[in-house]
Amino acid sequence: ATKSVNAKLVLLGDVGAGKSSLVLRFVKGQFIDFQESTIGAAFFSQTIAVNDATVKFEIWDTAGQERYHSLAPMYYRGAAAAIVVYDITNPISFTRAKKWVQELQGQGNTNMITALAGNKSDLLDARKVTTEEAQTYAEENNLFFMETSAKSATNVNEIFYEIAKRLPRA
Ligand code: GTP
Ligand code: MG
Repeated sequence: ATKSVNAKLVLLGDVGAGKSSLVLRFVKGQFIDFQESTIGAAFFSQTIAVNDATVKFEIWDTAGQERYHSLAPMYYRGAAAAIVVYDITNPISFTRAKKWVQELQGQGNTNMITALAGNKSDLLDARKVTTEEAQTYAEENNLFFMETSAKSATNVNEIFYEIAKRLPRA
């Protein structure tokens, strides 16, 4: 029989890293060049089939602007999974991602599945964060890591699918 799993998922990361764009790509298959900065947070849902289960993601797309930082625990508390997003062309966003990982490891759910997404992988010529650096960091911190592009759709479905596979089956 097909099992049904509901999973609360939160996206965290610096302003402009591409959180909303990843969600828009995953949920609607679209990309917008001038995506507006998120205010507070936005909610989406999307259901996918994985092996013997149907996984319904309840997605909280948070705002990266610092003034919203204090709201973040409302969204990651009780979350089954998190995607921490940085922009491969922006080292500051990578530093910010590490801070989010630290915060999640300190205050988040102990069993939370955490993915690190190096987004904007289509902008290879502007790359500032190497794959190796991020991969090493991810391994040291028990995250799984993928470079993604919301623009070209590279690894977007894949990162959600990998999370779905790792979720505990009720
Ligand atoms: P906040 O809501 O302010 O925290 O930002 P965000 O993380 O949601 O970023 P958003 O999705 O709004 O993307 C910021 C900008 O980057 C937008 O202009 C997007 O079009 C662009 N962008 C997002 N993902 C990609 C990508 O994979 N490749 C390229 N080239 N641009 C991207
Ligand atoms: Mg946003």
